[in-house]
Amino acid sequence: MGYEYPVSKPWLEGRELEYVTEAVSSGWISSQGPAVKQFEAEFARYNGVAHGVACSSGTTALTLALRALGVGPGDEVIVPEFTMIATAWAVEYVGATPVFVDCRDDLNIDVSRIEEKITSRTKVIMPVHIYGRRCDMDAVMDIAFQYGLRVVEDSAEAHGVRPVADIACFSLFANKIITSGEGGICLTDDPWLAGQMAHLRAMAFSAEHNFLHKKLAYNFRMTNMQAAVALAQVERLDDILAYRRDIEKRYDEGLRGIPGITLMPTRDVLWMYDVRAENRDELRRFLADEGIETRLFFKPMSRQPGFLDPIWPTLNANRFAEDGFYLPTYTQLTAADQEHITGKIREFYAVG
Ligand SMILES: Cc1ncc(COP(=O)(O)O)c(C=O)c1O
Repeated sequence: MGYEYPVSKPWLEGRELEYVTEAVSSGWISSQGPAVKQFEAEFARYNGVAHGVACSSGTTALTLALRALGVGPGDEVIVPEFTMIATAWAVEYVGATPVFVDCRDDLNIDVSRIEEKITSRTKVIMPVHIYGRRCDMDAVMDIAFQYGLRVVEDSAEAHGVRPVADIACFSLFANKIITSGEGGICLTDDPWLAGQMAHLRAMAFSAEHNFLHKKLAYNFRMTNMQAAVALAQVERLDDILAYRRDIEKRYDEGLRGIPGITLMPTRDVLWMYDVRAENRDELRRFLADEGIETRLFFKPMSRQPGFLDPIWPTLNANRFAEDGFYLPTYTQLTAADQEHITGKIREFYAVG
């Protein structure tokens, strides 16, 4: 069923069509086309980072990052309880074990609880900027330095937040701040790590012989058509972030003071507008009937069948998962759309 107000829709009002047409009419549709390198260079430059390695998704970006850092069987990686499961699965894909840390009230990893989870097997800390709210990266980097660990920043939801970790991984799925339909990109200042990720992304072809492969690698390449879309999106990223800042401000104003609604701390960049609500499930049904789509918060990792841990009911992450959800958040959302949405929420709680 299509909603009048979906939670997300891509904004493709820059030069996307022009660049895709160029890709198709030139015959460069595979990953070998020029837009891939252009997008990598542009996104890296935007972020003030030396190297970009584009790939097929945010999940494969995280997988490449961990592999490039040499993470494998027997290793542990610190992962937040409150995240999308791809963060934890990337750790499993490379044969390592995710070790979960609960969240703070801003939904980001509780940095003060990281040290108690570090063991002799820990190799990497993987913080996530949830819904576009930047983690306390200074504190994460300090801990990593103290224990000799590497840091992979899961920036899937935070285009526009400046990376500081060894590698930052972005998703370009269609619901993200910028998109290529499906896609991802890793950013790093380290040329060796960038080279490793590029090598692993593309079957680990070797220089000595076309078909000699010295390690297990992947086909995680991004096509030139996807890169064409991504390139046009990066060109408008500042505008997109500005529109979304306005969306955040308008939701804050429209929802402030509604009894039953608890606003969340502001975001550094707006991916999704998250909020907590009394009678959340009833409110969501009411909004759905009005054509307004919403989504639940992430379920804690310890509550997932693959990682089930009986501690889950005690987690802060679980408390938020019980009453949290997010509202339609897409770049082209207008003030009138938002007035309509917040008006319906007022109506539900019968506030004048
Ligand atoms: C925090 C986080 N990490 C990783 C991913 C995975 O990205 P993708 O869907 O592009 O594989 C997502 C989004 O889906 C995400 O929200």
